[in-house]
Amino acid sequence: MERTFLAIKPDGVQRGLVGEIIQRLEQKGFTLVGLKLLQVSKELASTHYGEHQAKPFFPGLVEFITSGPVVAMVWEGKGVIATARKMIGATNPLNSEPGTIRGDFGIDVGRNVIHGSDAPETAVKEISLWFGPEELVAWSSSL
Ligand code: CMP
Repeated sequence: MERTFLAIKPDGVQRGLVGEIIQRLEQKGFTLVGLKLLQVSKELASTHYGEHQAKPFFPGLVEFITSGPVVAMVWEGKGVIATARKMIGATNPLNSEPGTIRGDFGIDVGRNVIHGSDAPETAVKEISLWFGPEELVAWSSSL
């Protein structure tokens, strides 16, 4: 079954959006298979955002993502990579549709609440960067 990596950024945690975000994904029908709160190291942040290393906003991005706790998650379900991205909305919250997480809760591209893997290869890479296999629980509802 398809899996994706999502991380609620320090702004999302500090604004009390963790429950709301998890609820949206649960209610959509996706399954939470990995979850932890962590203080991200500069090393993890730099690896995770490695593709943006040459961008002018890179130092600020690393600074921000390491500035407070992050909620890292792995979600599972049919089409979860693309659908979670749709539910998250465009990178710049000013362009995100209302009804999306960023569209409803943000106005600043550097404080855009949540990160989500953008493609299957990225999801595999990000899941293994942030989680050990022993931290993921394969389960499905029996209800
Ligand atoms: P994310 O989906 O986590 O992936 C890369 C992040 O870089 C993105 O969300 C934004 O938070 C951030 N980002 C992208 N463009 C800019 C920008 N122009 N200024 C600051 N941060 C940016």
